[in-house]
Amino acid sequence: MTALEKINAPPTRIGGTALYDWDYLVQDDRAHRLIYTDPAIFEAEMTNIFGGTWTYLAHESEIPSDNDFITRRLGLRPLIIVRDANGKIRALYNRCTHRGTTLCRWDKGNTKSFQCPYHGWNFLNTGKLRGVPWPEGYAEDMRDPKYNIAQVPRVESYRGFIFATLNMDALPLTEHLGTIAKIIDEWLDRNPGGKVVVCEANRFRYKGNWKLAYDNSCDGYHVAYSHRSLLETENRFAGENAKGMAYYRNSPDTQPMYMRYTGHGNHFKDKRPNLEKRPGGLWALESAHPGMEHYESEFIKRYGDRAFALLDLAGSEPVNINVFPNFSLLGNHIQVFEPVGVEETNAIWYGTMIVDDGSVPADAVTDINALRMRTQEGFPNFGEVDDIANFEQIQRGLIAPEDEWVYMNRGFGIPDRIKTHDDGTITAPATDEAFMREHFKEWKRLMKARPNLAIQREP
Ligand code: FES
Ligand SMILES: [Fe+2]
Repeated sequence: MTALEKINAPPTRIGGTALYDWDYLVQDDRAHRLIYTDPAIFEAEMTNIFGGTWTYLAHESEIPSDNDFITRRLGLRPLIIVRDANGKIRALYNRCTHRGTTLCRWDKGNTKSFQCPYHGWNFLNTGKLRGVPWPEGYAEDMRDPKYNIAQVPRVESYRGFIFATLNMDALPLTEHLGTIAKIIDEWLDRNPGGKVVVCEANRFRYKGNWKLAYDNSCDGYHVAYSHRSLLETENRFAGENAKGMAYYRNSPDTQPMYMRYTGHGNHFKDKRPNLEKRPGGLWALESAHPGMEHYESEFIKRYGDRAFALLDLAGSEPVNINVFPNFSLLGNHIQVFEPVGVEETNAIWYGTMIVDDGSVPADAVTDINALRMRTQEGFPNFGEVDDIANFEQIQRGLIAPEDEWVYMNRGFGIPDRIKTHDDGTITAPATDEAFMREHFKEWKRLMKARPNLAIQREP
């Protein structure tokens, strides 16, 4: 069958219903354009992926005190992430049980209760309906639990990172994370107290499907080309030509970095082996930032031998850790992908700061965080724009219905290039698309499943 015949009688939809031949749409080495462009597939993803598996919502440091809340989304569902009066973290649907309006119109705050702006129903931050105006107008008992706010039944944190799923049959979060949890541990443990605090975000929105961002999250193939202007800027004054991501410039597959797939759609790109293992090795990679020289000489004056180990805390950790479907740790950032529509996505970069646990001089903590903000401004402003331009241009290219396939076959079929290890993880050279082939197996598994989704309400 030619491509045009297929379009006239699409083999991917059965009987005009939202049923698809997923094995046709995602094959070993290629994916069909429809998975990025079809509104019905997007709609199915909002239950089977964003709902059917663990999705990142927020970081605990964004709601540090009882009664703190922030508003977020799980797929398209508006949520209020709240630490209730007893310290329990809940993900409440941001939807009044009366006529359905969003209850909370703020991004964040602190409150014991939410009052609906429409008719004034008032809810405790546990989700329980506390009262309605002029209750004598209701014949029914308004204490019926059906009036309490719907909540996501499973909300779990891994070392401060809050994830949620509606799927009652999903594995416990730590089991689901598996090997990637160890890499998250390493990312956290280099910071004082093994912790970070999330600060404000750098927000982008692009006209493209959310998967384009996740497909790029471990892509080492594009760096030297897509980010050439950033690499050139970073290295303009660097004599040894070794700042930022310069290790991608010449035959990246022969560098000691690699990618590892750890299961359930999760993977990481480990660029740490490229570093010189000495205090200051990470700092040496940092390209110029405003005020950098002043901080560096001040640190050497104040802290002597210890200065470079402290400056490393301001340097970006050279690892990309990706948890399917929407979470990445990139350098020192948390990056979150939020679907808006089939062809629209938010890409949000949250900066992170170190905490004062007594192991680092208190004034150094403040200065490291000030410097860390500078190092974290670089990539989102000068690199993410390159990536987003690619995502938007892919979406544009995929409009052509006759040209159907997107290839992800780099490294595929070459003997001994990709290694499967005893623990089930898979490693490949930095530019291989093995990570993408693997996360699409997870995508397909979830899209084929009939997930056991539920909500709950306070009794
Ligand atoms: S919609 Fe909330 S009180 Fe009416
Ligand atoms: Fe990129």
